[in-house]
Amino acid sequence: MGRSCFSKCRGRLMGWLQIMLGGLVIIVSLSSLFRFYSAGFFVHNEDICRHFYNVKEVYEGFDIRALTARVEEVLCKMDSLQTKLESTVQEMEKDTEGLTKTKISGLEHKRFLEEEVIRPLFDAHIALRQIRLPKIEGVRNTTIKEEPLMNTFVIEEIRKYITPKENRVGKVNIYGTGRIYNTIGHACVLLKKELEEYMDYDIGSYCKDDWNLAQKLMINGCDPLPRRRCLTRASKLYQKPYPINESLWRIPDGRNVRWSNYQCRNFECLSSKNPKRGYSKCTGCFEMEKENLKWITNTSLPTDFLIKDILAFKPGEVRIGLDFGVGTGTFAARMREQNVTIISTALNLGAPFNEMIALRGLIPLYVTLNQRLPFFDNTMDLIHTTGFMDGWIDLQLMDFILFDWDRILRPGGLLWVDRFFCSRKDLDDYMYMFLQFRYKKHKWAISPKSKDEVFLSALLEKPPRSL
Ligand SMILES: *[C@@H]1O[C@H](CO)[C@@H](O)[C@H](O)[C@H]1NC(C)=O
Ligand SMILES: *[C@@H]1O[C@H](CO)[C@@H](O)[C@H](O)[C@H]1NC(C)=O
Ligand SMILES: *[C@@H]1O[C@H](CO)[C@@H](O)[C@H](O)[C@H]1NC(C)=O
Ligand SMILES: *[C@@H]1O[C@H](CO)[C@@H](O)[C@H](O)[C@H]1NC(C)=O
Repeated sequence: MGRSCFSKCRGRLMGWLQIMLGGLVIIVSLSSLFRFYSAGFFVHNEDICRHFYNVKEVYEGFDIRALTARVEEVLCKMDSLQTKLESTVQEMEKDTEGLTKTKISGLEHKRFLEEEVIRPLFDAHIALRQIRLPKIEGVRNTTIKEEPLMNTFVIEEIRKYITPKENRVGKVNIYGTGRIYNTIGHACVLLKKELEEYMDYDIGSYCKDDWNLAQKLMINGCDPLPRRRCLTRASKLYQKPYPINESLWRIPDGRNVRWSNYQCRNFECLSSKNPKRGYSKCTGCFEMEKENLKWITNTSLPTDFLIKDILAFKPGEVRIGLDFGVGTGTFAARMREQNVTIISTALNLGAPFNEMIALRGLIPLYVTLNQRLPFFDNTMDLIHTTGFMDGWIDLQLMDFILFDWDRILRPGGLLWVDRFFCSRKDLDDYMYMFLQFRYKKHKWAISPKSKDEVFLSALLEKPPRSL
């Protein structure tokens, strides 16, 4: 008898406790809602829009409609919760008789609170927190603005993907920008002026010589760029390229390049000896006597692997691959001599890297880091990367990139990380990045680059994935 009373009392006690906790949640949520209320959110649609357009801090590119939709969504959630609670209370009032001798158990209380109150409140709370308000003065100390379409997307992964990724410790990356803009094509709205300049041409006539404007748009996230209906310009005296038995290791004819948007006007000027060459990465890349030694000559660094040693791990199996880096195609040239076809990614960062690769008789792929690679799943025998990603790169960005590489590598395909460098203290983080896929480790070497920087080279093999 006493025991049953005890458990009944305890049940009731728990019930009250839960109601109080539930009340607390409601109060907290309402107080965060109140901020929006005081900001004038709980008004009609048009009022919301007018309200926003009037606020000085909002810039015009921001997607007001998406923002309104998100606020609406929260309001609906709160509204249906309120209706639900009110109708429950009415039910209870109708049945006061039953209420006094009610036998609602603690468990039922708990279920009701969890499913009917706390969960919808939690959803509304998350939805509220996801809403981002535009800031005109920019994020932190920069002029970049909040991603204008941010509130269009509710799925956190999309939001993460398109949020610009700051370089670490305030460094400038290889593109000369402070961040990388992962893109699904939406960032063009932020670059309205430049995009309009780019698309301002006479249909069917000659385009302006403005590839550098196009590249600037791409690097800053307006990528892929729209196509244009104008004729691209070529150099005045395009000479036929050298035959393939000569072109691989010969500096091309400078007349085959349009130089107007570079500091240099010929290939000789791009030599590393010239301090005014206009580019900084891959400095010796336009000197064949230097390029000729790469990946075939022993060096003192354990992180320098030779092509023949790498191919020996998979004799005859490596036929096609991707070289993700910055350079003039020397890796692809060497691999071609081994009958392996390599596509080399290249941007014209201060020098005609794409033209140089193509004139050597190799395939340049003009892509930025912003995009998913244009290859299908499980297709590549090899991915080689050097000189491009290093200690500046945001870890989450790198994660997206490595998963993409994993996607296109075939089972048994090789990932050759060639002289990746970072500061010593970051090494553990990056090592984790490379090792997380549990690839087979054929080679792994670390050597010092400078006092606080290290090189990491690795040859990893993607395992079979028969699911
Ligand atoms: C912040 O902005 C000020 C003034 O524009 C500038 O002098 C300073 O270097 C900036 N700081 C950083 C960390 O970018
Ligand atoms: C390249 O091949 C052509 C014919 O295929 C030949 O005439 C020429 O001498 C070769 N050049 C070199 C440098 O071997
Ligand atoms: C490079 O070193 C390896 C062993 O250390 C040796 O077998 C090979 O002959 C060397 N190759 C060259 C080109 O010096
Ligand atoms: C590449 O292919 C050619 C023609 O099939 C052959 O003669 C040559 O020996 C091959 N080279 C290598 C390194 O396998």
